[in-house]
Amino acid sequence: MIKARAIWLFFDKTVGMIMEDKRTIIVGASRGIGSALAKKLAEQGHKLILLARSEDDLKAVCSYINMKYGFGSAEYRVHDVLDTGSVRGLLYDLISQLGGLDNLIFVSGILNPVNWDEFELDKELEMLRINLLGGAAWIGTAAEYFKKQGKGLIVGISSVAGNRGRAGNPAYYSSKAGLTNYLESLRNRLLKHGVRVLTVKPGRVETNLIPELKGMFLAVPPEKIAEDIWRAMLRKKQVVYTPWWWRYILLIVQHAPSFIFRRVNI
Ligand SMILES: NC(=O)c1ccc[n+]([C@@H]2O[C@H](COP(=O)([O-])OP(=O)(O)OC[C@H]3O[C@@H](n4cnc5c(N)ncnc54)[C@H](OP(=O)(O)O)[C@@H]3O)[C@@H](O)[C@H]2O)c1
Repeated sequence: MIKARAIWLFFDKTVGMIMEDKRTIIVGASRGIGSALAKKLAEQGHKLILLARSEDDLKAVCSYINMKYGFGSAEYRVHDVLDTGSVRGLLYDLISQLGGLDNLIFVSGILNPVNWDEFELDKELEMLRINLLGGAAWIGTAAEYFKKQGKGLIVGISSVAGNRGRAGNPAYYSSKAGLTNYLESLRNRLLKHGVRVLTVKPGRVETNLIPELKGMFLAVPPEKIAEDIWRAMLRKKQVVYTPWWWRYILLIVQHAPSFIFRRVNI
């Protein structure tokens, strides 16, 4: 009996891996986590369209992928997520280019450094517009398409930084809190329509987003995050902390009483 179950689990996993749906758009794939994820998914046979503003970087990521995994594995489009009005038309254009869509992954994000005594509205609004409104435009539009299709996977890169209102950078943390909630709401709306939503919460990652993190305690390279995201996609997870230990760190942070939390400088 146990043997039969083990064989079934192995079969289920293997077939799941082979049959995984693989037409994928990644928004924010010119560097960092997005480009590492593009390379990981290309290795797994995904057909990709990559978006971001930096054309030279996108070209370099696509050339790497196409040289390694075959011509036509990855294409790119230059796009600024601030241009929310163009998202619907662009999404449907890319869907016909790919011949359909299985996965929409929103990675784009910025973190403008903010001093502890600084209240610079332009900096704050830019983070909210790119990280939250840009995310809502892509994720919401893809959600509508996937609902009609009756299947699809949305992956949104949020952050452990969105779990509480920390003092260091109010707009960045709020953009991530908003994105986390938006993803959860869509998950709860769409599950009964066959559409899955995965929320990714990375901890410290060595990318250009926060250059000071490179070599810091608990910081990991973007390739580690990409590996965890790919595994979470395969295992049909709803939320993934990456690396795994952040789930337990955040459990403590989440339950710290407010009178302690407001005295901690993070
Ligand atoms: N690094 C960390 O420690 C960390 C931790 C938790 C969560 N995250 C999240 O992970 C995501 C990726 O960050 P990363 O660390 O990989 O940073 P990164 O190396 O700076 O990459 C950011 C990506 O977002 C794109 N992007 C930024 N503004 C955009 C815009 N207006 N339109 C389109 N694309 C835009 C960038 O492309 P272009 O500049 O070419 O447009 C780039 O591809 C972000 O959402 C970030 O908040 C990072």
